[in-house]
Amino acid sequence: MSIGYFFNQSTKFLWYSAHYIISFKYSTPIKIDKTNPPSFYGKMPSGKQMFFEMIKLLNEERKLINSKFYKIPKTQLKDLLSAAKGSFDFFLDLPKIDKRRASGKFSEVETKKKDLPKYYLRNFHYQTDGYLSEKSARLYEFQVETLFTGCAATMRRFSMIPLINYLNSNKKNIKLLDIGTGTGEIIESYKLNFKDTEITCSDLSEEYLNVAKQKLKKFKDIKYVNCKGEELPFENETFDGLTSTYMFHEIPTEIRKQVFSEISRVLKKDGIFVLTDSLQIDDNPKLNPLLEFFPYSTHEPFYPKYIREDLKEVAKNYGLEMYYNKNAYLSKSMAFRKL
Ligand SMILES: C[S@@+](CC[C@H](N)C(=O)[O-])C[C@H]1O[C@@H](n2cnc3c(N)ncnc32)[C@H](O)[C@@H]1O
Repeated sequence: MSIGYFFNQSTKFLWYSAHYIISFKYSTPIKIDKTNPPSFYGKMPSGKQMFFEMIKLLNEERKLINSKFYKIPKTQLKDLLSAAKGSFDFFLDLPKIDKRRASGKFSEVETKKKDLPKYYLRNFHYQTDGYLSEKSARLYEFQVETLFTGCAATMRRFSMIPLINYLNSNKKNIKLLDIGTGTGEIIESYKLNFKDTEITCSDLSEEYLNVAKQKLKKFKDIKYVNCKGEELPFENETFDGLTSTYMFHEIPTEIRKQVFSEISRVLKKDGIFVLTDSLQIDDNPKLNPLLEFFPYSTHEPFYPKYIREDLKEVAKNYGLEMYYNKNAYLSKSMAFRKL
């Protein structure tokens, strides 16, 4: 397993790093006022440091797999074919992203839906169509893996550590709701590791949810609900578990509070909420400059507040107690218990 794992991850690393380097090289340089430089200027972690952090993550996952703590989906031929197509589409779209980035335009989104919140109607990451088209959904995973040089899937899978521990100590099949599922990358791993768990995927983007549905069509029992995380259409205490990956940094502070409140409402007493998202300031001080740089390099308007928010304290206000917090390279997974 170890050799297979390292072969797979090295291939992913080389493939997505190449895309990262090429896209960086051919993009319009980010303007920095050197007379009044931002706090990260001149302090970015070196490539060697980043590589070391990444190896730490992969080595941890290798141990989890070897000890049979969790399983990961196998790479199949169709994955390789879709990577080749993903590469073509990625480069085709890159000039459009670069144009938006260079001009600072982030409002090029169209939708017929009237009830989408204003904070959502934007080109997050300067991506084409924001979250509002199937085309964007099909490009999304490739873009995320490129940003994280092939480690995004591993970082997401660290959500399973507290989830599996929870399942082992409760010995029951749980009802699980995922919020901001996007194109559903982590859900296949959930199904592989706890197949009897009843999973509901939810997202504000109907288009992203449709792509998740297609990707996960072999799992007939998954439900899909197109809704806001801050207005969950479920009865009180419906779920034993809730999860969310990479959504919390994309919503304004006030909305984040509402999402916490809704999570607490729909979660049963002693239920678990696992939140996986970007590292925050001082989680790994060496990487602080990188976190500061991120919203300079892309459109992430709510990220600067997210990285400074005391999530433990906010969650506590809504009856959710943080009992687990573990870094995973550029992400971290936190687990909360409903009191
Ligand atoms: C960065 S993506 C993360 C997707 C996926 N969970 C992953 O791990 O890649 C953020 C997702 O959150 C969704 N989203 C953003 N704001 C939301 C909200 N208020 N309620 C529900 N979903 C939301 C977006 O549509 C998008 O699919």
